[in-house]
Amino acid sequence: SWTMLNIVEDAVEAVRAQIGPEGRAICGLSGGVDSAVAAAIVQRAIGDRLTCVFVDHGLLRKGEAEQVERDFVAATSVKLRVVDAQERFLKALDGVTDPEEKRKIIGREFIRVFEDEQRAIIADGPVDFLVQGTLYPDVVESGGGTGTANIKSHHNVGGLPDDLQFQLVEPLRALFKDEVRRAGEELGLPAAMVWRQPFPGPGLGIRIVGAVSRERLEILREADAIAREELSRAGLDREIWQCPVVLLADVRSVGVQGDGRTYGHPIVLRPVSSEDAMTADWSRVPYDVLARISTRITNEVREVNRVVLDVTSKPPGTIEWE
Ligand code: XMP
Repeated sequence: SWTMLNIVEDAVEAVRAQIGPEGRAICGLSGGVDSAVAAAIVQRAIGDRLTCVFVDHGLLRKGEAEQVERDFVAATSVKLRVVDAQERFLKALDGVTDPEEKRKIIGREFIRVFEDEQRAIIADGPVDFLVQGTLYPDVVESGGGTGTANIKSHHNVGGLPDDLQFQLVEPLRALFKDEVRRAGEELGLPAAMVWRQPFPGPGLGIRIVGAVSRERLEILREADAIAREELSRAGLDREIWQCPVVLLADVRSVGVQGDGRTYGHPIVLRPVSSEDAMTADWSRVPYDVLARISTRITNEVREVNRVVLDVTSKPPGTIEWE
């Protein structure tokens, strides 16, 4: 739209003015809409003086890494460094079952990998700016202060060490989520990114109840992809706030398939409606949609023989299971 075009153009101008004709910037991409739109705006402003970093921790959902590496790059011409850190995260998470411990480990490893990349980029020449996808509600929540380099804590990335000090570039500071999505459309970003539901920084790592392993991630990724596909086919993906799909990795139950007895894992569907994730209600997804999801998951994901629906509101349940 005309006004959104103006908003994007103004943001590009403001970034150009802030960074100047020589400045270089770094931006971490998470696969989510905020960092993607922020990066796309800064790319328009300064071209390849922006370097984006994508840490593939192996905890994203099916197709999401490719969305960043292929579709986002194709749509924006952003200069991207991809770090395949899957092994490193699997190793660090090996045998860990406590949810907060998982978060701590994922956050810590993320910072380490990201810092190594920053140092490598700085080795090519000085970098003064760090791009962040801070939205207006984040600004209000944190008291409205500007500009110290501290990546949002709910991205599970803490403060930066003293030798990595940057000025922050926050092109989305005046925008609400729906405006960011419209800006993303205006910028021609992939629809799957623009319309992605909220997804936690620790990713599938906190949607496996039990220890994380490569095999368990693979099971959950397949089940989650089926649920997402059927929810969007039913036109519910933009209506439902989010739908965590959870693997109860340490639970097994008896089932029957063909003429054989199975002993597999349950998958939990947790569709919720919410305004802000502070409170939520379980979504009344039509039975036929639930039936299709259940049939497909149990048919197509060998290790899963049971699909259950979470009908708990928040409170007392949280949205995620961990
Ligand atoms: P809960 O489970 O607390 O989740 O009801 C509320 C919202 O926050 C998301 N969430 C997280 N996001 N890092 C994140 O970036 C996290 O560790 C984390 N834990 C929960 C959750 O998906 C929901 O939108």
